Amino acid sequence: MKIQIINGPNLNLLGKREPGVYGATSFEDYLKDLRSRYADIQLDYYQSNVEGELINKIHEVGFDYDGIILNAGAYTHTSIALQDAIRAVKTSVIEVHISNVHKREEFRHRSMISCACVGVICGFGMDSYRLAVESLINQ
Ligand code: DQA
Repeated sequence: MKIQIINGPNLNLLGKREPGVYGATSFEDYLKDLRSRYADIQLDYYQSNVEGELINKIHEVGFDYDGIILNAGAYTHTSIALQDAIRAVKTSVIEVHISNVHKREEFRHRSMISCACVGVICGFGMDSYRLAVESLINQ
């Protein structure tokens, strides 16, 4: 099984960025644990702060991989182009957020991508990614 994790803008700073909201662990450290837990799954990771690069990655893996776990960061709330990219590919996309966006500012309550995704997992901290892996395994 091949799963692509894609993190969007500012998520390269996990561990340093607003630790009260996003925790104190870097994504690289978390990924080590995730990979050892799911040793028989190919878990690829990509991060970009650039909207078009996220779209390019979705196109690149979206006809070949078994699932995409996408935390689009703030582009979640703005990007019709990402919604279109998700619709354009065959691979199932799971939308993930570390924080519970519904407990936060109102502008975070609206997602432009949920309607194109299989489902949404949010609010479980970094564990949101593991829950997304589980959902793809059970799919
Ligand atoms: C986030 C929530 C978004 O609203 C925010 O812009 C992020 C991170 C999360 O994982 O909780 O960058 O996607």
